[in-house]
Amino acid sequence: MLISLNQQVALITGASSGIGAGAAKALAAAGAAVVLNYNSQAAPAEELARQINAQGGRAIAIGADVAKEEDVERLFAQTLEAFGSLDILVANSGLQKDSSAVDMSLADWNQVIGVNLTGQFLCARAALRIFNRQGIREGVSRAAGKIIHMSSVHQRIPWAGHVNYAASKGGVDMLMQSLAQEVSHQRIRINGIAPGAIRTAINQAATEGAAAQELLKLIPYGRIGDVEDIANAVVFLASDASDYIVGTTLFIDGGMSLYPEFRGNG
Ligand code: BGC
Repeated sequence: MLISLNQQVALITGASSGIGAGAAKALAAAGAAVVLNYNSQAAPAEELARQINAQGGRAIAIGADVAKEEDVERLFAQTLEAFGSLDILVANSGLQKDSSAVDMSLADWNQVIGVNLTGQFLCARAALRIFNRQGIREGVSRAAGKIIHMSSVHQRIPWAGHVNYAASKGGVDMLMQSLAQEVSHQRIRINGIAPGAIRTAINQAATEGAAAQELLKLIPYGRIGDVEDIANAVVFLASDASDYIVGTTLFIDGGMSLYPEFRGNG
């Protein structure tokens, strides 16, 4: 299966590090022009854009807080100014603000819901408006646009000490499915990815040293995931190779969502 995203434009939110940066690299390697959105970390996003351009790709970095409507509108307007179209949105920005529920501040609840869920809605809405105007770009893709919502295994697995994060990802699942139901007839393809434990800054403490040994007990496949495990699936879901995949979440978690605690017969 040879995948080419030549002539396509992809916008990746939260692309300054982790899964977002990995997805951006992989999409660029597959031939897409990429817009690397960041919120606070301009330097790594700009450096990644520089590297992609140096390797013959096309990339720009644009700062915007996806939880803010005016920032999102500007982000998508600047994307069109830079590259003239939009074919792929990877709604990836996300953060954790962990604490027990009794100690969780309303600010930490709101921030996580704001970025992880409202941010994905605002970006999807902006992308859909563009896809509707563009329609199918003949010879470029069979779909009029593709959206990939970055979720988590915690859209399914409850997570004590992380109620804001788990609630946001449960919301992402229903956002994704409801949007897909609403717009698939316009040949817009919307899917989700639910990563398990991937080695990135968001879970550095849990993936190193003794904590990593504990974490591995939850992963039947016996290794912590790499960014590339997710990035490869992003490229697949963005391409016509997955043209009949609509409204689905792909779990990429080494089996974490298989309830491994029950392996010994419960
Ligand atoms: C979280 C990580 C966590 C993983 C598995 C992800 O969504 O961001 O911190 O390690 O789920 O629990």
